[in-house]
Amino acid sequence: GTMTIREIMAAAPVMPVIVLDRVEDAVPLARALCAGGIRVLEVTLRTEAALAAVAAIAAEVDEAIVGVGTVTRPEQFAAARAAGARFAVTPGLTPTLAAAARASGLPLLPGVMTPSEAIAAREQGFDALKLFPAEQAGGMGMLKALYGPLPDLLFCPTGGISAATAASFLALPNVGCVGGSWLVPKEAVRAGDWAAISTLARQAAALR
Ligand code: 3PG
Repeated sequence: GTMTIREIMAAAPVMPVIVLDRVEDAVPLARALCAGGIRVLEVTLRTEAALAAVAAIAAEVDEAIVGVGTVTRPEQFAAARAAGARFAVTPGLTPTLAAAARASGLPLLPGVMTPSEAIAAREQGFDALKLFPAEQAGGMGMLKALYGPLPDLLFCPTGGISAATAASFLALPNVGCVGGSWLVPKEAVRAGDWAAISTLARQAAALR
């Protein structure tokens, strides 16, 4: 069934930001991450292979909850839904993107970077938001500052977060999960070192 964004954020402490150049890496990568306890997977629409990768994971890796990231154009929501995505992530939010997400039926984790953007997103019905780019936006200090006036908003900070800093972010009351690419090193994918990726996933899953 359909999961809400808050349920998706609660499913794992870290949402891996995945960039796939080869479709054939999608299923073994998803299996490696799931084996380590990381089941929510954000496949970014930055490569030609992305939608086919989403489709392969949706078809072959039952335990994975696969979504799409880097959605910046309204037509991408329906295409992602058709490929089997279960949620979408955007680096920012516009009324056009909000309407297209709603029309597609895909739950959306929209990106914001300022208080005004967070309030605008809430006015459009979103109370679980991605803080992007998180470090550049002020990182932990920004999240603490947002918690005062906007304590009802839950964030997935993404951008510049590492294995070393993730736990501190996760300890904040308004952080549901964090996003990051460190679980999926390009060299490990290229080498097919799925065991290394499972180890990184296991460490990330243990952060909460
Ligand atoms: C990205 O834009 O690729 C994501 O924000 C991930 O950022 P990171 O590589 O700093 O984790």
